[in-house]
Amino acid sequence: MTEHWSAIRRHWQLLGSPLRPPPEVVEAYDRELGLGRSHVVMFGVTPELAGLGATMTSVDESCDMIAGIWPGDTDTRKAVRGDWFDLPFGDASVEALIGDGCLSVIGAADFRRKLLASVARTLRADGRAAFRLYASPETPDDPREVRALALAGGVSTFHDLKWRVAMTAIAGAPDYTIPVTGILEQFDRMFPDREELSARTGWELPVIGTIDVYRNSSVVYSFAPAAALTEEARTFFDDVRLASTGTYGLAERCPLLVLRSPKCPG
Ligand SMILES: C[S@@+](CC[C@H](N)C(=O)[O-])C[C@H]1O[C@@H](n2cnc3c(N)ncnc32)[C@H](O)[C@@H]1O
Repeated sequence: MTEHWSAIRRHWQLLGSPLRPPPEVVEAYDRELGLGRSHVVMFGVTPELAGLGATMTSVDESCDMIAGIWPGDTDTRKAVRGDWFDLPFGDASVEALIGDGCLSVIGAADFRRKLLASVARTLRADGRAAFRLYASPETPDDPREVRALALAGGVSTFHDLKWRVAMTAIAGAPDYTIPVTGILEQFDRMFPDREELSARTGWELPVIGTIDVYRNSSVVYSFAPAAALTEEARTFFDDVRLASTGTYGLAERCPLLVLRSPKCPG
C-alpha cells in the first residue's frame, strides 16, 4: 500500500481535480462542519486541506507522502505516521475529522465498515466527520458513451476521466471494488490511442501517463454509489447525510458524507 502512494507522490504535481480538491471543496468541509475553532483530525496529508481548523493533526501511513506533499508542521498543525484502522486517539476524544477520498482507497466493504467503526469510536458524542466520496452512479455508464464524451471534449480533466473509466468497470454490491490494475486495463481498452486522446482534449501525454502508476500496484479501490455508502455509515452513526461540494467536473459524484452522532459500540 505505501509503495503505491510513494509512486503517486512522485507525480503529484501532474494530478489535478477532482483527485486534488479544488477551493470549493475546501469551503464545503468548512461550511458543513464549522471547523474554524476546532482541532481537526485529517486522514491523509492532502495539502489543500491543511489550513482547515484552528489546529490540525493529520494521520498518514506513508512517510513518503508526509515528507513529499504535507506542507510542513507548524505551531498549529502536524502530521503523524499512523494507521486509520488503529488510530492513536482515545475513545470519544476527537472533535472533528475529515478525509478526502479515503473510503475509495481502502478497498472492499469490510474495510469501509472497519474505517467507519474506527471513526465512530474516536469521535466525541458532539463531534462531526466528513469524507469526500468518489461515488459511482446508480446506473453504470456505458463505456462507449464515456469514450465519446471524452473525445468530444466533455470531460473536465484527465483525472475526472480516470474515475469515469474506473466506474464503468467496478464489481457489483456489496463491495464495488476494482484493482487499480483493472482501471489501467479498462482505460487501455477504451482509449488504445493516447495521442488521439491528447490531441482531442489538450491533455499532455505525461498527465495521461500518470495512469501507468497503477501497472505495478496491488492496491484495490472502490467506487460505491452514495446511497450504498450512506447505508453503510448508518450502522455507525445516527446522523448521516450527503452535502454538495460544488460545481467542478465530476462534483456530482464527489459529495461529502457528513457523519454525526456516533452510535455507542455494541
Ligand atoms: C487521502 S487518500 C486520497 C488522496 C487523493 N485525494 C486521491 O484520491 O488519490 C491518500 C492517502 O491515504 C493514505 N492512506 C491510505 N490508507 C491508509 C491507512 N490505512 N492509514 C493511513 N493512511 C492511509 C496514503 O498513504 C495517502 O497518503
